[in-house]
Amino acid sequence: MAGRFPTAWMDDFYSRVDIVQVVSAYVPLKKNGSRYWGLCPFHHEKTPSFSVNGEQNLYYCFGCKAGGNVVQFVEEMEHLTYREAVEYLAKQIHMPIPETQEDPDYERRRSQRERLLGANKAAARWYHAQLWLPENQRILDYLHKRGLDDGTIRKFGLGAAPEEWDALTRALEQQGYTQDELRLAGLTVVKQETRFDMFRSRAIFPIIDAQGQVLGFGGRAMGDAQPKYLNTSDTPVFNKRKGVYAANLLRKQRDLKRVILVEGYMDVVALIQHGVNGVVATLGTALTNEQARLLKRYAPEIWVSYDGDSAGQHAIMRALEIFEQEDIRARVLFFPDNLDPDEFIRQRGLDAFEHLRPLKAAEYRMQRAKEDLDLSDDDQRIEYAKRCAQILSKVREPVELETYLQTLAVQTGFSKDVLRQQMGLSIAEANNAKPPRERIIRRRAGDAPAASMPEKTLIALLVSGLMPKDAVRDTDFDDPQLHMLAQKLLAGSSPAAILAECETEQQRVAYSEAFALNAEITQDNAAAVAEDCLRTIRQTRLQRQIDDIRAQLDTCGSAEKADMLKELLTLSNELARLKRAVH
Ligand code: UTP
Ligand code: MN
Repeated sequence: MAGRFPTAWMDDFYSRVDIVQVVSAYVPLKKNGSRYWGLCPFHHEKTPSFSVNGEQNLYYCFGCKAGGNVVQFVEEMEHLTYREAVEYLAKQIHMPIPETQEDPDYERRRSQRERLLGANKAAARWYHAQLWLPENQRILDYLHKRGLDDGTIRKFGLGAAPEEWDALTRALEQQGYTQDELRLAGLTVVKQETRFDMFRSRAIFPIIDAQGQVLGFGGRAMGDAQPKYLNTSDTPVFNKRKGVYAANLLRKQRDLKRVILVEGYMDVVALIQHGVNGVVATLGTALTNEQARLLKRYAPEIWVSYDGDSAGQHAIMRALEIFEQEDIRARVLFFPDNLDPDEFIRQRGLDAFEHLRPLKAAEYRMQRAKEDLDLSDDDQRIEYAKRCAQILSKVREPVELETYLQTLAVQTGFSKDVLRQQMGLSIAEANNAKPPRERIIRRRAGDAPAASMPEKTLIALLVSGLMPKDAVRDTDFDDPQLHMLAQKLLAGSSPAAILAECETEQQRVAYSEAFALNAEITQDNAAAVAEDCLRTIRQTRLQRQIDDIRAQLDTCGSAEKADMLKELLTLSNELARLKRAVH
């Protein structure tokens, strides 16, 4: 197994390789200030938002947020692995490739991951090859019968799991994978010392991530066998709550106007075969916040397109809530006559698909609100107006709101003014219903908020080298990701090296962004900018503590109250002092 390059060699490598020169081979760059700029090779654009930082060997696109170090740039442009990209660049600058070093712990984790991903890729290839063998003809026939052509089958790498008990297990053991590895990858099941293939007699859908790694599989039973779909359970390389099906194709579709989120593997494959781009599915689970954030990176809007049954409707409502939490615009796309997307596109074609109009979130909610009501009945009409007022109290765009109010006024016979008053009531009720303490906790629980600008700027300052390192401590960072990042920077790791070790794409994006923020920082203003950031961070912390205590004051016993008031006073004084210091 290939190990890791020695750190000293990597340092030398990063100091010799010149990202400006490397990138210039693909994109013309122009210097502006301390950086180079060009048109982003990862998305279509007319004005340059792709920046290259020659000193740190980093790139970052302010448009599509693609970012990384020089090696990662080459990985993406040339479709190489990290290791291959390093070797490719080393060759260009005539650096001999060193023996790789073994760092036992790091190596174990990394190599297990690599082994399992290797086993998955080998399995995907094997399943795909099986599809064309005579003994698996019925599985190929099945896919054809479902309307898929061979081009699509290849594009998605679909495959066939034969009927035998252990055909895949034996094939992969011959390629050198151990029983333990195959079990960990979820490919082989071991029961009472007998090992057999997880997937048998199924059409196989490999689940491939944006980097082209095969994370797991979905297997469709032939005919009515149960369960209809079998999915890889979570493994060290696969977490069904984090990924989506067809993320690999999404990656190639920069500049999408919308992503369509459907329920099933077949829906994705059929829509894409008929020419609809940017379609993904969750992996047999309800949508998670992590998946929503992943999708946000690819398009400004998501269209949710689930089944019309009541489970589907419930899932749509839940998905809309998640998109709202993540601040993502969402719409609902319905397919008529209870067809699922796969059936619709096959029966009616792309043209009919393009004529479907997605509903805005509020429109969809209003439509649902009247489903169980009879609007010719006075009481039920009032109930409908109340429900809608509550829905509309969340609409932010005044022009949109006006349109909905107009419709609602026609439907219910209430004037827009009255409806607006009712909305006001809904907002007040929503605020009163929750005690203040809960309101604050709700804000802070759940997913961590986006890291604050001052914290990101501090990172950029650390990277710029324009500020003494002891001016900032890792404890100045509240955001857990940035906290970790600061620790690494303070320990002396270079940004390029840190990016090389990112474990998730999300982390790399967040780090790249923070690294890229130093455009405006100069020798002259660095100290002042740092001081400003630190003060803002301290103020935010104090304010939060004060809010917490205030919220608890209403409900605490009188004994605690005295202490809390004292604490409140101290904190308030401190905050006032900080604020005064600015002027
Ligand atoms: P559906 O039952 O709607 O299937 O499940 P479908 O996509 O229309 O499948 P076809 O057209 O009959 O082949 C939607 C999704 O729910 C998950 C799968 O991810 C599936 O694609 N699912 C469904 C399972 O994980 N297991 C099951 O047994 C059924
Ligand atoms: Mn279907």
